[in-house]
Amino acid sequence: MVMRPIPISQPAIGAREEELVLEAVRSGWVSSIGKYIDAFEESFARFCDVKYAIAVSNGTTGLHLALETLNIKAGDEVVVPDLTFVATANTVAQTGAVPVLVDIDPETLCLDPASVAAAITARTKAIMPVHLYGHAADMDALQAIADEHGLAIIEDAAEAHGAEYKGRRVGGLGNCGVFSFYGNKIITTGEGGMITTNDPEFYQRARNLRDHAMSPERRYWHHERGFNYRMTNLQAALGVAQMERIDTFIQKRIDIMNWYRKSIHTDGEVRLNREMNWSRSVFWMVCLEVDWFTEKTRNDFMAAMKACGIDSRPYFCTLSSMPMYARDPLAVSKRKSDSGLCLPSFYDLTEAEVVGVADTINDLLEEMRPR
Ligand SMILES: Cc1ncc(COP(=O)(O)O)c(C=O)c1O
Repeated sequence: MVMRPIPISQPAIGAREEELVLEAVRSGWVSSIGKYIDAFEESFARFCDVKYAIAVSNGTTGLHLALETLNIKAGDEVVVPDLTFVATANTVAQTGAVPVLVDIDPETLCLDPASVAAAITARTKAIMPVHLYGHAADMDALQAIADEHGLAIIEDAAEAHGAEYKGRRVGGLGNCGVFSFYGNKIITTGEGGMITTNDPEFYQRARNLRDHAMSPERRYWHHERGFNYRMTNLQAALGVAQMERIDTFIQKRIDIMNWYRKSIHTDGEVRLNREMNWSRSVFWMVCLEVDWFTEKTRNDFMAAMKACGIDSRPYFCTLSSMPMYARDPLAVSKRKSDSGLCLPSFYDLTEAEVVGVADTINDLLEEMRPR
């Protein structure tokens, strides 16, 4: 059985992180200028195989900055999936544009291209696919729609560092990608984010808007309204140390996924993460879906796991169920949102612990299964 209370996630902070953060503190470069900012941006750009990376204060400000850089504004529409973290839609609304909620594909849990095509209007300016829980969205199909209608693509890659689509890293597939380094992500800087792009004009504009749109020629003169969305050198020091281990972190998540696959009794009604043959998932979250769960029995199941010392989390609530974006439910998103949950997955988890969690899950599902 399970040996210790198992949280859903936990950052892996070690001696190297302590060393670099301390060095940054002692250097006096504690704000947003310093060698670690440049080093972090460079190593992250290399990792994503893109030309440019821009460190920002978090993933949410990164999404907002990307939208502002692309001149998304009131009167525009941006297509977003109904099942995602709320920041995806909130940042669109923050620009004055309307987030148009679209249903997801039941296998990838990412934007369903056919539903995206049906949602395009004369006002649509961009598509914001989310690589949910570490699996890439179907980018070729989305790019074809974007090309046909002249739309931008902003990849919300907050949960998918290192995920691949047809052998290419996410973050370099659309006009830009946005990552989060919140404490539960693949790598962390405490709070933090990164925008990636191959477009030099986008890069220059985003960098400028990140820093109040200050004129490069004339200090304290601002040609438009910008933001302070900068990352600190202290956060970047943490990021540089984490980047040294990112491949190991991803491999561990893949190992954990495989341990769960071996141990949880799946069948047509009990499923774990799908991985399409064109994607390499980084399994940011291990996802359990049970067809016979209702929202209530899913929540009862999570409570029973908690009583055994195992933390879990429900899938995101659909945006269409929230007051600010309320509309008729979208069938696949609603079904997944009501019946899905995420299981513990973090670097320090051992195989024995995963097997212990899986045993508990098998027992509880057996007890709860309708007969
Ligand atoms: C899909 C998605 N988008 C955006 C964000 C926002 O990132 P942050 O928490 O760094 O602001 C998150 C994460 O938390 C996320 O999961």
